[in-house]
Amino acid sequence: MWNLQNKKALITGGSKGIGKSCVEEFASLGAEIIFTGRNKSDLDATEREFLEKGYKVKGVVSDVTSETDRTKLWALVREEFGVLDILVNNAGMNIRKAAVSYTEEEYRDVVEVNLMAPFMLCRMFFTLLKKSGKASVINVSSVAATLDDHTGAPYGMAKSGLLQMTRSLAVEWASYGIRVNAVSPWFTLTPLTRGLLKQPEKIGPVLQRTPMRRIAEPEEVAAAIAFLAMDKASYITGQNIITDGGMSINALM
Ligand SMILES: NC(=O)c1ccc[n+]([C@@H]2O[C@H](COP(=O)([O-])OP(=O)(O)OC[C@H]3O[C@@H](n4cnc5c(N)ncnc54)[C@H](OP(=O)(O)O)[C@@H]3O)[C@@H](O)[C@H]2O)c1
Repeated sequence: MWNLQNKKALITGGSKGIGKSCVEEFASLGAEIIFTGRNKSDLDATEREFLEKGYKVKGVVSDVTSETDRTKLWALVREEFGVLDILVNNAGMNIRKAAVSYTEEEYRDVVEVNLMAPFMLCRMFFTLLKKSGKASVINVSSVAATLDDHTGAPYGMAKSGLLQMTRSLAVEWASYGIRVNAVSPWFTLTPLTRGLLKQPEKIGPVLQRTPMRRIAEPEEVAAAIAFLAMDKASYITGQNIITDGGMSINALM
């Protein structure tokens, strides 16, 4: 059971960063994966890289915020897999600003990707997840869901909503054999944060606040997600694993 042999998985935002590490981790554990992103050339490059390693992966252009794309994705997963064992709601983005500086459109965009889309995808794939009998949904939230890290209010608000969605669906769907959990990263080195973490005035306080004194690698987040996806985690639902190098339990800096 320490593997994902024969599992059919869908990972949103799998072409880069944490999602890409998830695709690799899942594939190396034996899963068959459909992963998404918006940029076709990034998707194709990731797909090529993993097919060359012999992994069973397929990259699909699909924007999580588009109803049309979500519907097409559902049809593809139903046709290719017929069932869904694992759904990772990983795609996310942020616009960092002071609260008063957001336009209404920017606010809606942040909430749309990080909160609206995961709920819509969970609902859409419910029947295929139920069919699995042993399904696992993992929502990628953030420490910003519970602590302010100057990332902007809408992102934290959306990720916080995602945590409550995790708990609510875990209860509602337990009797269908669907576990629902979250993983909440602290700063992790990906294309999303690379620019920010190059700035000494930004990375300095992050390292000072983190007992492990380093930034997470995306594989370290993917490992937690993979564990929750396994049948080994069969009695764990509604939980949130925080991958933060001890940051959130550190009282003294
Ligand atoms: N990195 C961190 O420090 C950190 C910390 C806390 C939480 N997180 C969370 O972890 C998750 C992954 O972050 P990351 O750092 O790996 O980000 P990333 O490096 O920017 O990668 C994001 C992935 O999602 C895809 N994506 C973005 N918007 C999408 C959309 N609307 N529809 C479909 N795919 C979309 C991207 O591909 P395209 O651009 O081609 O669409 C890419 O594959 C996010 O939910 C993020 O909020 C990250």
